[in-house]
Amino acid sequence: MGMHPVVYESQSFGELLKFLEERRYQKIFILVDENTEKYCLPILNPFIHSYEPVVIKIQSGEDHKILKTCQVIWNQFLAYNANRQSLLINLGGGVIGDMGGFAASVYKRGFHFINVPTTLLAAVDASVGGKTGIDYRSFKNHIGIFVDPQAVFVNPVFFESLEIRQLKSGFAEMIKHGLISNADYYDQLSEIQDFFNVDWPNYIDESVKIKSKIVDEDPNEKGIRKLLNFGHTAGHAFESFSMENHDIPLLHGEAVALGMMMELDLSAKKLGFDETEADKIKKYLQSVFSIRKFKQEDFEGLLNFMMQDKKNTNQGINFTLLKEIGAGVIDQFCSKKEIAECLQAFIDRD
Ligand SMILES: NC(=O)c1ccc[n+]([C@@H]2O[C@H](COP(=O)([O-])OP(=O)(O)OC[C@H]3O[C@@H](n4cnc5c(N)ncnc54)[C@H](O)[C@@H]3O)[C@@H](O)[C@H]2O)c1
Ligand SMILES: [Zn+2]
Repeated sequence: MGMHPVVYESQSFGELLKFLEERRYQKIFILVDENTEKYCLPILNPFIHSYEPVVIKIQSGEDHKILKTCQVIWNQFLAYNANRQSLLINLGGGVIGDMGGFAASVYKRGFHFINVPTTLLAAVDASVGGKTGIDYRSFKNHIGIFVDPQAVFVNPVFFESLEIRQLKSGFAEMIKHGLISNADYYDQLSEIQDFFNVDWPNYIDESVKIKSKIVDEDPNEKGIRKLLNFGHTAGHAFESFSMENHDIPLLHGEAVALGMMMELDLSAKKLGFDETEADKIKKYLQSVFSIRKFKQEDFEGLLNFMMQDKKNTNQGINFTLLKEIGAGVIDQFCSKKEIAECLQAFIDRD
């Protein structure tokens, strides 16, 4: 796992072209949704149209990351005789990558796929770790397998059409990478002012390195991979609550940013994380994400979501917290009382 190359492209997709020339796949499929068809396919297609790729279009969004959509994909594989010598190019965000990777990996017991991430989140997070799959009923990523793409081709040109909220959603995971394992990297990220003018490959590469290292040490999620959960225990509660209660729900990364804010307080409580430092980071996160505040009336609902976390044991809820910037610590069990105190402080923050 994690052995596939992540490479950074120039405008002309030289790396991808070299890959395709070497591999000589018999048939090439490209998976897109309506947004990546509109904004990304026209950028990529001129370079690869001589391969006469079959474009498979699905509807965008997490709601469509389901078995029914896989059937749409498999029907196209069938119609165009996909086989072991085929290649699927996932041109899109995490939804396309997760679902396309899964669909290709089980079709006729599997053929190769590559990812061309078109969201920052897909580039820094979904491109490493080998997780593919779909949602089932109300369970996220419930059906799926671990399998790596043959390669990931990151081209920042695609980020230019991304909405700023989507861009920042991916950025939250990058901040997390810095906070759990590299203080210098966090410092660099926190100096970024203009999100439309960033040398992304530079930063993405550090995030990919951090995640790869963690995943390689613990491919089956037994231990140290839990480091990547920082911000996610509280974050998932904010995300779920928002999904049920807000007209415009939080994006995943936005929820994680809020989760990191709350978990910084837990870190101070449980691990003695410096409180002045915690306040500084919280202010910074608030300035980047400037997100609606949850209200007092949401307290019980949010707390319920936090206590329902699947990491709930009789020792309490299992959090990944920080000892200091760049030093995450797994298996920090927090009681309902501790969680409630930090949640209250989070709601009360100015
Ligand atoms: N496999 C993993 O390790 C892993 C890690 C993190 C997240 N994920 C999964 O990734 C998914 C979230 O990924 P995401 O945030 O990329 O969401 P997404 O794939 O839904 O993309 C977000 C939105 O942006 C649009 N879009 C994509 N690229 C665009 C572009 N260049 N210009 C304009 N619009 C564009 C999409 O059509 C979509 O509407 C979730 O399903 C999550 O479970 C997987
Ligand atoms: Zn995440």
